[in-house]
Amino acid sequence: MTTAMGELQSVLHPAGADAAIVHQFSWVLFVGGAIIFVAVMALLALGMRREAHPVRPKLWIFGAGIAFPVLVLTALLTWSTWRSAELAPQTSHKALTISVTGKMWWWEVRYRDPASGREIVSANEIHIPVGESVYLGLTASDVIHSLWVPSLAGKRDMIPGRVTGLNLRADKPGVYRGQCAEYCGEQHARMAFHVIALPRPEFDAWLARQGAPAIAPDTTVLQRGRDAFLAHSCQTCHTIRGVTDTGNNLQQQIADISRRGPDLTHVGSRRTIGAGTLNNHRGTLAGWIADPQAIKPGVFMPPSHDMDGETLRALATYLEHLK
Ligand code: CUA
Repeated sequence: MTTAMGELQSVLHPAGADAAIVHQFSWVLFVGGAIIFVAVMALLALGMRREAHPVRPKLWIFGAGIAFPVLVLTALLTWSTWRSAELAPQTSHKALTISVTGKMWWWEVRYRDPASGREIVSANEIHIPVGESVYLGLTASDVIHSLWVPSLAGKRDMIPGRVTGLNLRADKPGVYRGQCAEYCGEQHARMAFHVIALPRPEFDAWLARQGAPAIAPDTTVLQRGRDAFLAHSCQTCHTIRGVTDTGNNLQQQIADISRRGPDLTHVGSRRTIGAGTLNNHRGTLAGWIADPQAIKPGVFMPPSHDMDGETLRALATYLEHLK
Protein backbone atom coordinates (compact mmCIF):
# COMPACT_ATOMS: atom_id res chain seq x y z
CA MET A 1 0.00 0.00 0.00
CA THR A 2 1.28 3.44 -0.87
CA THR A 3 -0.11 5.96 1.57
CA ALA A 4 -1.02 9.56 0.91
CA MET A 5 2.49 10.66 1.81
CA GLY A 6 4.00 8.51 -0.92
CA GLU A 7 5.83 6.10 1.32
CA LEU A 8 5.49 2.39 0.94
CA GLN A 9 4.18 -0.19 3.35
CA SER A 10 3.75 -3.42 1.49
CA VAL A 11 4.73 -7.05 1.81
CA LEU A 12 4.32 -7.25 -1.98
CA HIS A 13 7.07 -4.73 -2.77
CA PRO A 14 10.25 -5.94 -1.10
CA ALA A 15 13.11 -3.45 -1.07
CA GLY A 16 15.63 -5.49 0.90
CA ALA A 17 17.14 -8.98 0.76
CA ASP A 18 15.23 -10.46 3.69
CA ALA A 19 11.93 -8.99 2.57
CA ALA A 20 12.52 -10.56 -0.85
CA ILE A 21 12.88 -14.01 0.74
CA VAL A 22 9.69 -13.53 2.80
CA HIS A 23 7.96 -12.29 -0.36
CA GLN A 24 9.01 -15.43 -2.26
CA PHE A 25 7.78 -17.69 0.58
CA SER A 26 4.42 -15.93 0.54
CA TRP A 27 3.90 -16.37 -3.19
CA VAL A 28 4.95 -20.01 -3.27
CA LEU A 29 2.58 -20.81 -0.39
CA PHE A 30 -0.23 -18.70 -1.80
CA VAL A 31 -0.06 -19.97 -5.39
CA GLY A 32 0.67 -23.57 -4.34
CA GLY A 33 -2.19 -23.50 -1.82
CA ALA A 34 -4.54 -22.04 -4.45
CA ILE A 35 -3.69 -24.72 -7.03
CA ILE A 36 -4.20 -27.54 -4.53
CA PHE A 37 -7.45 -25.98 -3.29
CA VAL A 38 -8.84 -25.73 -6.84
CA ALA A 39 -7.77 -29.34 -7.60
CA VAL A 40 -9.41 -30.67 -4.44
CA MET A 41 -12.64 -28.78 -5.17
CA ALA A 42 -12.64 -30.10 -8.76
CA LEU A 43 -12.16 -33.67 -7.50
CA LEU A 44 -14.92 -33.14 -4.96
CA ALA A 45 -17.29 -31.98 -7.68
CA LEU A 46 -16.29 -34.96 -9.80
CA GLY A 47 -16.73 -37.33 -6.85
CA MET A 48 -20.23 -36.02 -6.16
CA ARG A 49 -21.25 -36.68 -9.76
CA ARG A 50 -19.85 -40.22 -9.81
CA GLU A 51 -21.01 -41.12 -6.33
CA ALA A 52 -22.50 -44.39 -7.54
CA HIS A 53 -19.28 -45.67 -9.18
CA PRO A 54 -16.21 -45.06 -7.00
CA VAL A 55 -13.00 -45.37 -9.05
CA ARG A 56 -10.08 -47.14 -7.31
CA PRO A 57 -10.75 -45.73 -3.81
CA LYS A 58 -7.54 -47.15 -2.28
CA LEU A 59 -5.38 -45.28 -4.80
CA TRP A 60 -7.09 -42.01 -3.92
CA ILE A 61 -6.88 -42.53 -0.17
CA PHE A 62 -3.23 -43.61 -0.05
CA GLY A 63 -2.00 -41.65 -3.05
CA ALA A 64 -3.79 -38.33 -2.76
CA GLY A 65 -4.59 -38.53 0.95
CA ILE A 66 -1.21 -39.64 2.34
CA ALA A 67 1.61 -39.80 -0.21
CA PHE A 68 0.83 -36.45 -1.88
CA PRO A 69 0.69 -34.32 1.35
CA VAL A 70 3.83 -36.04 2.69
CA LEU A 71 5.68 -35.26 -0.54
CA VAL A 72 4.47 -31.64 -0.74
CA LEU A 73 5.13 -30.85 2.93
CA THR A 74 8.57 -32.50 2.85
CA ALA A 75 9.49 -30.51 -0.24
CA LEU A 76 8.24 -27.26 1.33
CA LEU A 77 10.08 -27.92 4.60
CA THR A 78 13.34 -28.66 2.80
CA TRP A 79 13.06 -25.64 0.54
CA SER A 80 12.03 -23.20 3.29
CA THR A 81 14.79 -24.42 5.62
CA TRP A 82 17.34 -23.93 2.85
CA ARG A 83 16.00 -20.47 1.96
CA SER A 84 15.74 -19.39 5.62
CA ALA A 85 19.46 -20.01 5.98
CA GLU A 86 19.95 -17.15 3.50
CA LEU A 87 18.19 -14.63 5.75
CA ALA A 88 20.66 -12.10 7.15
CA PRO A 89 22.34 -13.36 10.33
CA GLN A 90 21.14 -11.35 13.35
CA THR A 91 24.40 -9.77 14.34
CA SER A 92 25.62 -6.33 15.27
CA HIS A 93 29.12 -7.23 14.07
CA LYS A 94 30.39 -4.71 11.50
CA ALA A 95 26.93 -3.20 11.14
CA LEU A 96 25.72 0.27 12.02
CA THR A 97 23.83 -0.14 15.28
CA ILE A 98 20.70 1.82 16.12
CA SER A 99 18.73 1.28 19.34
CA VAL A 100 14.96 1.38 19.12
CA THR A 101 12.73 1.27 22.19
CA GLY A 102 9.03 0.60 21.87
CA LYS A 103 6.88 2.77 24.12
CA MET A 104 3.15 3.32 24.50
CA TRP A 105 2.70 4.42 21.67
CA TRP A 106 5.78 5.63 19.89
CA TRP A 107 9.35 4.66 19.08
CA GLU A 108 12.47 6.08 20.66
CA VAL A 109 15.44 5.88 18.29
CA ARG A 110 19.06 6.27 19.46
CA TYR A 111 22.15 6.68 17.32
CA ARG A 112 25.76 6.93 18.35
CA ASP A 113 27.34 10.12 17.01
CA PRO A 114 30.56 8.97 15.29
CA ALA A 115 32.20 12.36 15.96
CA SER A 116 31.54 12.87 19.67
CA GLY A 117 30.51 9.36 20.75
CA ARG A 118 27.41 10.88 22.37
CA GLU A 119 23.96 9.46 21.87
CA ILE A 120 21.59 11.20 19.52
CA VAL A 121 17.98 10.61 20.47
CA SER A 122 15.10 10.92 18.05
CA ALA A 123 11.68 9.41 17.59
CA ASN A 124 9.45 7.62 15.12
CA GLU A 125 11.90 7.77 12.21
CA ILE A 126 14.80 5.43 11.58
CA HIS A 127 17.29 6.85 9.10
CA ILE A 128 19.61 4.29 7.55
CA PRO A 129 22.24 4.33 4.80
CA VAL A 130 21.19 2.52 1.60
CA GLY A 131 22.81 -0.81 0.77
CA GLU A 132 24.33 -1.33 4.22
CA SER A 133 23.35 -3.84 6.85
CA VAL A 134 21.95 -2.03 9.87
CA TYR A 135 21.47 -3.72 13.22
CA LEU A 136 18.49 -2.55 15.24
CA GLY A 137 18.87 -3.32 18.94
CA LEU A 138 15.27 -3.59 20.13
CA THR A 139 13.65 -3.37 23.51
CA ALA A 140 10.51 -1.98 25.13
CA SER A 141 10.01 0.10 28.24
CA ASP A 142 6.43 -0.82 29.16
CA VAL A 143 4.64 -3.64 27.33
CA ILE A 144 5.54 -5.92 24.42
CA HIS A 145 5.62 -4.21 21.01
CA SER A 146 6.75 -5.58 17.68
CA LEU A 147 8.72 -3.77 15.00
CA TRP A 148 7.69 -4.48 11.43
CA VAL A 149 8.74 -2.83 8.18
CA PRO A 150 7.18 -5.17 5.62
CA SER A 151 9.19 -3.83 2.68
CA LEU A 152 12.51 -4.49 4.41
CA ALA A 153 12.33 -7.45 6.80
CA GLY A 154 10.22 -9.69 8.98
CA LYS A 155 8.81 -8.81 12.40
CA ARG A 156 10.71 -8.78 15.67
CA ASP A 157 9.15 -8.54 19.12
CA MET A 158 10.33 -5.85 21.53
CA ILE A 159 10.21 -7.15 25.06
CA PRO A 160 10.67 -5.12 28.29
CA GLY A 161 13.90 -6.07 30.06
CA ARG A 162 15.33 -7.90 27.06
CA VAL A 163 17.23 -6.86 23.96
CA THR A 164 16.37 -8.49 20.67
CA GLY A 165 17.93 -7.63 17.33
CA LEU A 166 16.92 -7.23 13.73
CA ASN A 167 19.18 -6.69 10.74
CA LEU A 168 17.81 -4.48 8.00
CA ARG A 169 19.11 -3.53 4.62
CA ALA A 170 17.39 -1.27 2.12
CA ASP A 171 18.58 -1.75 -1.45
CA LYS A 172 16.84 1.34 -2.80
CA PRO A 173 16.63 4.82 -1.29
CA GLY A 174 13.14 5.64 -0.13
CA VAL A 175 10.70 5.99 2.72
CA TYR A 176 9.35 2.72 4.08
CA ARG A 177 6.47 2.76 6.50
CA GLY A 178 6.43 0.36 9.41
CA GLN A 179 4.13 -0.24 12.31
CA CYS A 180 3.75 -1.99 15.60
CA ALA A 181 2.70 -5.58 14.97
CA GLU A 182 1.83 -6.66 18.51
CA TYR A 183 -1.28 -5.38 20.25
CA CYS A 184 -0.05 -3.01 22.94
CA GLY A 185 -3.05 -1.04 24.13
CA GLU A 186 -5.68 1.31 22.84
CA GLN A 187 -3.40 3.26 20.49
CA HIS A 188 -1.64 0.21 19.01
CA ALA A 189 -3.06 1.11 15.59
CA ARG A 190 -1.49 4.59 15.77
CA MET A 191 2.00 3.33 16.49
CA ALA A 192 3.65 3.73 13.11
CA PHE A 193 7.10 4.87 12.05
CA HIS A 194 9.16 5.44 8.93
CA VAL A 195 12.45 3.98 7.82
CA ILE A 196 14.19 6.54 5.62
CA ALA A 197 16.95 5.05 3.49
CA LEU A 198 19.45 7.64 2.27
CA PRO A 199 22.67 7.42 0.25
CA ARG A 200 25.63 7.28 2.67
CA PRO A 201 26.79 10.93 2.28
CA GLU A 202 23.24 12.20 2.89
CA PHE A 203 22.90 9.91 5.89
CA ASP A 204 26.16 11.22 7.36
CA ALA A 205 25.03 14.81 6.82
CA TRP A 206 21.67 14.06 8.41
CA LEU A 207 23.31 12.44 11.43
CA ALA A 208 25.65 15.41 11.85
CA ARG A 209 22.66 17.79 11.82
CA GLN A 210 20.82 15.65 14.38
CA GLY A 211 23.89 15.69 16.62
CA ALA A 212 23.84 19.46 16.84
CA PRO A 213 21.89 21.16 19.62
CA ALA A 214 18.58 22.85 18.82
CA ILE A 215 18.58 25.96 16.63
CA ALA A 216 18.43 29.06 18.82
CA PRO A 217 15.30 31.20 18.40
CA ASP A 218 16.10 34.41 16.49
CA THR A 219 12.74 36.18 16.40
CA THR A 220 10.44 37.34 19.17
CA VAL A 221 7.79 34.77 18.22
CA LEU A 222 10.32 31.94 18.39
CA GLN A 223 11.67 33.23 21.70
CA ARG A 224 8.16 33.39 23.02
CA GLY A 225 7.62 29.80 21.89
CA ARG A 226 10.76 28.61 23.65
CA ASP A 227 9.80 30.46 26.83
CA ALA A 228 6.33 28.89 26.69
CA PHE A 229 7.94 25.46 26.39
CA LEU A 230 9.85 26.06 29.63
CA ALA A 231 7.03 27.91 31.41
CA HIS A 232 4.60 25.05 30.83
CA SER A 233 7.07 22.44 32.15
CA CYS A 234 7.18 20.60 28.83
CA GLN A 235 10.76 19.65 29.79
CA THR A 236 9.40 17.32 32.46
CA CYS A 237 8.78 14.85 29.64
CA HIS A 238 10.58 16.28 26.59
CA THR A 239 14.22 17.11 25.95
CA ILE A 240 15.39 19.89 23.67
CA ARG A 241 19.17 19.75 23.65
CA GLY A 242 20.59 23.22 24.19
CA VAL A 243 17.43 24.36 25.97
CA THR A 244 16.57 21.85 28.67
CA ASP A 245 20.14 20.80 29.54
CA THR A 246 21.04 21.21 33.15
CA GLY A 247 24.78 21.30 32.47
CA ASN A 248 25.34 18.31 34.72
CA ASN A 249 26.05 15.24 32.61
CA LEU A 250 24.93 12.56 35.07
CA GLN A 251 21.83 14.50 36.10
CA GLN A 252 21.11 14.98 32.41
CA GLN A 253 21.35 11.27 31.68
CA ILE A 254 19.08 10.34 34.58
CA ALA A 255 16.58 12.97 33.47
CA ASP A 256 16.73 11.68 29.88
CA ILE A 257 16.01 8.11 30.95
CA SER A 258 13.07 9.09 33.13
CA ARG A 259 11.53 11.33 30.47
CA ARG A 260 8.42 9.90 28.96
CA GLY A 261 7.98 11.88 25.77
CA PRO A 262 9.98 12.09 22.55
CA ASP A 263 13.16 14.17 22.30
CA LEU A 264 12.16 17.34 20.46
CA THR A 265 15.61 18.77 19.64
CA HIS A 266 14.95 18.37 15.89
CA VAL A 267 11.21 17.66 15.93
CA GLY A 268 10.66 20.04 12.99
CA SER A 269 12.70 17.75 10.73
CA ARG A 270 10.33 14.82 11.18
CA ARG A 271 7.61 13.87 8.74
CA THR A 272 4.87 13.15 11.24
CA ILE A 273 3.86 13.66 14.86
CA GLY A 274 2.13 11.22 17.18
CA ALA A 275 4.04 8.24 15.65
CA GLY A 276 2.70 8.53 12.12
CA THR A 277 -0.67 9.93 13.23
CA LEU A 278 -0.52 13.42 11.68
CA ASN A 279 1.64 15.21 9.12
CA ASN A 280 4.05 17.47 10.91
CA HIS A 281 3.48 21.22 10.60
CA ARG A 282 2.58 24.19 12.77
CA GLY A 283 -1.17 23.53 12.59
CA THR A 284 -1.03 19.89 13.64
CA LEU A 285 1.58 20.69 16.31
CA ALA A 286 -0.73 23.33 17.79
CA GLY A 287 -3.69 20.95 17.67
CA TRP A 288 -1.66 18.24 19.34
CA ILE A 289 -0.40 20.51 22.15
CA ALA A 290 -3.89 21.91 22.77
CA ASP A 291 -5.50 18.49 23.13
CA PRO A 292 -3.52 15.33 22.39
CA GLN A 293 -6.30 13.29 24.01
CA ALA A 294 -8.67 14.31 21.21
CA ILE A 295 -6.22 13.00 18.60
CA LYS A 296 -4.79 9.94 20.35
CA PRO A 297 -6.85 9.15 23.45
CA GLY A 298 -4.87 7.52 26.23
CA VAL A 299 -1.41 9.03 25.52
CA PHE A 300 0.49 10.30 28.55
CA MET A 301 0.50 13.93 27.43
CA PRO A 302 -2.15 16.08 29.12
CA PRO A 303 -4.12 18.78 27.26
CA SER A 304 -3.08 22.45 27.54
CA HIS A 305 -6.47 24.07 27.93
CA ASP A 306 -4.98 26.93 29.95
CA MET A 307 -2.70 28.11 27.14
CA ASP A 308 -3.89 31.22 25.26
CA GLY A 309 -4.06 31.11 21.46
CA GLU A 310 -1.10 33.38 20.83
CA THR A 311 1.20 31.38 23.12
CA LEU A 312 0.03 28.15 21.52
CA ARG A 313 0.82 29.50 18.05
CA ALA A 314 4.24 30.71 19.19
CA LEU A 315 5.04 27.33 20.76
CA ALA A 316 3.95 25.43 17.63
CA THR A 317 5.95 27.83 15.43
CA TYR A 318 9.00 27.30 17.63
CA LEU A 319 8.74 23.49 17.45
CA GLU A 320 8.20 23.57 13.69
CA HIS A 321 11.36 25.66 13.39
CA LEU A 322 13.46 23.02 15.22
CA LYS A 323 14.69 21.39 12.01
CU1 CUA B 1 3.09 -1.06 20.17
CU2 CUA B 1 1.31 -2.32 19.30
